[in-house]
Amino acid sequence: MAAPVLSAKKYLFKTCEQASFCRRNRAYADLADSRGAAWDPPYVIDPSTVAFDSGVLQGTIVKTVTDSTGAPNNVEFPFQLVFLESGSARFVVDEKQRVESPIPGFPESLTQRRYNEASKWAVTGDLTPDIGAVESTTDDERKSAVYRVRYGPDGHFEAIVQAKPLQIRFYRDGEPHVILNDRGLFNMDQYRPKPTEMDESKFEDELDVKDMWEENFGGKEDKKPKGPESIALDVTFPGYEHVFGIPEHADQFSLRETRGGDGNHDEPYRLFNVDIFEYEVNSPMAMYGAIPFMQAHKKGSSVAIFWANGAETWIDITKTKPNPEAFGIRKSTQTHWISESGIIDVYILLGPDPSSVYQQYGLLTGFTSLPPIYALGYHQCRWNYNSEEDVLEVDANFDSYDIPYDAIWLDIEYTDGKKYFTWLKSMFPTPEKMMQALDKRKRKLVTIIDPHIKKESGYKVYEGLSKNELALKTDNGEEFNGWCWPGESAWIDTFNPKAVEYWKEQFKSGKYCGHENNLLIWNDMNEPSVFNGPEVSAPRDTIHYGNWEHRDIHNIYGMTFVNATVQAMQARQPRQRPFVLTRSFFAGSQRLGAVWTGDNAATWDYLRIVTPMLLSHSVAGFSFVGADVGGFFGNPTSELLTRWYQAGAFYPFFRGHAHIESKRREPWLPGEPYTSLIRTAIRMRYQLLPSIYTAFHRASFDGVPIIRPLFLLAPDNEDALGIDDQFFFGETGLLVKPIVQEGAMSTEIYLPDEEIYYDYLDQTIYQGIGYKNIEAPLEKIPILARGGHILVRRDRHRRSATLMSHDPLTLVVHLDKTGDAAGVLYLDDGETTSYSRGAYLYRFFIFNVQDNILRSRSMQASSASNKSFEKSIDDVRIEKIIVVGMDTDKLKTNHAVEAFQDRKSWTTDIHITEATDRKASVVTVRDPKIFVTGDWSIQF
Ligand code: NOJ
Repeated sequence: MAAPVLSAKKYLFKTCEQASFCRRNRAYADLADSRGAAWDPPYVIDPSTVAFDSGVLQGTIVKTVTDSTGAPNNVEFPFQLVFLESGSARFVVDEKQRVESPIPGFPESLTQRRYNEASKWAVTGDLTPDIGAVESTTDDERKSAVYRVRYGPDGHFEAIVQAKPLQIRFYRDGEPHVILNDRGLFNMDQYRPKPTEMDESKFEDELDVKDMWEENFGGKEDKKPKGPESIALDVTFPGYEHVFGIPEHADQFSLRETRGGDGNHDEPYRLFNVDIFEYEVNSPMAMYGAIPFMQAHKKGSSVAIFWANGAETWIDITKTKPNPEAFGIRKSTQTHWISESGIIDVYILLGPDPSSVYQQYGLLTGFTSLPPIYALGYHQCRWNYNSEEDVLEVDANFDSYDIPYDAIWLDIEYTDGKKYFTWLKSMFPTPEKMMQALDKRKRKLVTIIDPHIKKESGYKVYEGLSKNELALKTDNGEEFNGWCWPGESAWIDTFNPKAVEYWKEQFKSGKYCGHENNLLIWNDMNEPSVFNGPEVSAPRDTIHYGNWEHRDIHNIYGMTFVNATVQAMQARQPRQRPFVLTRSFFAGSQRLGAVWTGDNAATWDYLRIVTPMLLSHSVAGFSFVGADVGGFFGNPTSELLTRWYQAGAFYPFFRGHAHIESKRREPWLPGEPYTSLIRTAIRMRYQLLPSIYTAFHRASFDGVPIIRPLFLLAPDNEDALGIDDQFFFGETGLLVKPIVQEGAMSTEIYLPDEEIYYDYLDQTIYQGIGYKNIEAPLEKIPILARGGHILVRRDRHRRSATLMSHDPLTLVVHLDKTGDAAGVLYLDDGETTSYSRGAYLYRFFIFNVQDNILRSRSMQASSASNKSFEKSIDDVRIEKIIVVGMDTDKLKTNHAVEAFQDRKSWTTDIHITEATDRKASVVTVRDPKIFVTGDWSIQF
């Protein structure tokens, strides 16, 4: 059967026009644009309030509004521009009247303030102001109310704040890179009492007063008891034609313009976590997660901003014509950020290059936590495996067909009536025995646990939640109930520390899944998905812990839920690193586990959109990403399924999944030749695990993602900025181009630099910037290895990743155009937290063309824990070294090389495949009898 053609139920979700705050701010932008140079925005800094002290420039922005009598009236917005020790700057603006005196008549059940805790959830890094930042305002500047501060590494950065028109420019080495309020679109809806009778003439300063105090969508009313609270700001990236990030959208990687025109969108990109169960591709519509982080890249520079706001947010993007006088020959990108509520809290990251940007963002929101290595293997999921026998049969089939996998997943049907933490006893009478059977083969079980808790008397999880008032509440303080899988349900409010404690109780060892410790967790539907709620989610006027409205924290909720689950799993298995998969996410979620792109479909279009989506997640700090392999809805053809496995083998998170109505499609079902090709793809993944794990280790301390855009390795090639159907994979130097075309026999792969590239599978040489045609029949995954990298593999086939921990290693050295190469290897026990106390191995490999020697050197400080870890793996050999692209004339002999380790040396055999005019030479050192733990070298 052909896969169904999807159409998002678009009418369920708002357009900008249907969200009054978006509509108003967009109209405000139109008004500003139409006035051009005559635009005189009502917001200015009051110079008498400006002061600089200890890394903070502060003052008050004053808005002149006209009240009902027509007299000007000043509303004050205190701001702080904080120069952080980490090198980033932070601009925060609040509203004075909501911070101070109680507002008469303000509902007691609500916090009067604007929500100011998005950073508290997203940012774990140090926010200490840098006392090394210096104000360098000249007297003349001060007279014209302009202020200047030097900050950042060696004072390379500078911020210039101008009172009127209000504007902040950020410079690096004298060049502007980010401009806040360039277009004068800064806007904050000040508090005003709800008028007893709407009288538009009283609100002349408002462009559109409709829907300010209540709003309807899809027949559902939003009471908006705090009135309009929106915030907006424009951010210009001068001289940058390309911007990236702001996941999650099913769209191209380089973000499109959103104000119409050929190939552009008409709608802004929307960040509002929703259960968009049949999403469209090439759309700016909101999806399951939101990371308000945007990177701008051009030749020689990368910068970014992070908009720390958890409310619904829309982002308009336009590009100006090149302005040679101001910013050179390139276009500039103008962005307009509009959020429903909260404060303005924006971080400015000045790079200068992509890896610095990722590091700066990680220093704020945290880095990818190092996953257990088995989480990087292949995961087998479907909705649903129906019984213990079913699970164990699938498990056994993987062995019969000689295909490795690490975890089998149970979707919602394993529960008794969708009551999480229970089992459908008729089908799963002895879950612990089932888990033990899996554990014997070193495999894991993943169970799904969602945040909706069935409202049923006698269901203990619900009863405790309800009795202790740990669920979301309605605007009148009652437990909020809505519909999801189990029927009527309550939603755990994981903003409440007591709810987190309660959640931890549920996972306790002995209580859930016995004492088994091969349990991993899947958190789904955590946007939250509420079937009968507005836009399939919780009403905005429902109340969370702290008396905040749901509208304020909507995009953060899903992360707090995963946070609770991660804490629960840490409490259950304190020595183990937890693994939790989430569907919903926010900035900072990378600290908690993996994410996937939700409900895609079994068509080529959905396979195609995965690569740009994973790139977008990756640059926004979320490295551990994947997509349902095979497509969730519908039934893939065997060819599509095979191509999807070939692509999926390079997704950081690699899981096959299917909808309950889709046909079974475990790897052995399509039959030959497909099963063998799928096996090959999965095995290739397992082979590369040492390098993949090493890449995750790197992401865990410097934020460089696993899926890397071309500009990460070729930052100066502006022609490559729009290419988003291929990527560099982790630390391997492999350039992967998934085939996403039915019937393809070849593909065009783009080389972004002048480095030498080798076909990873047959060593054909490619060189020169531009597209190269490469054969890609179904048997072949187009992968080129970039010269200069050393990757590490484990070539023995095993049943699961855990079983590979003592297997010998193979080094594959792809020499660069000068004949050199380098690489790293990180190893630890793969599952416990002892690496954080130093129990790991970290080695650097370098091949030097000068002396033709490959060396292995330690990169770790010697400590008792890494010594004891090294001892535990002192049996791990390097069993093979493959050097591609060597000038074989330089070899001392054509049959042996000399190895050195532990002050001894010996000769060891080699095998040479000589170069041809198209293919590189391959020199293979077989069993050199060296061990990974000590320094060694091989003289070729
Ligand atoms: C929605 C998820 O996106 C999907 O992966 C899952 O199978 C269903 N919920 C059922 O739990």
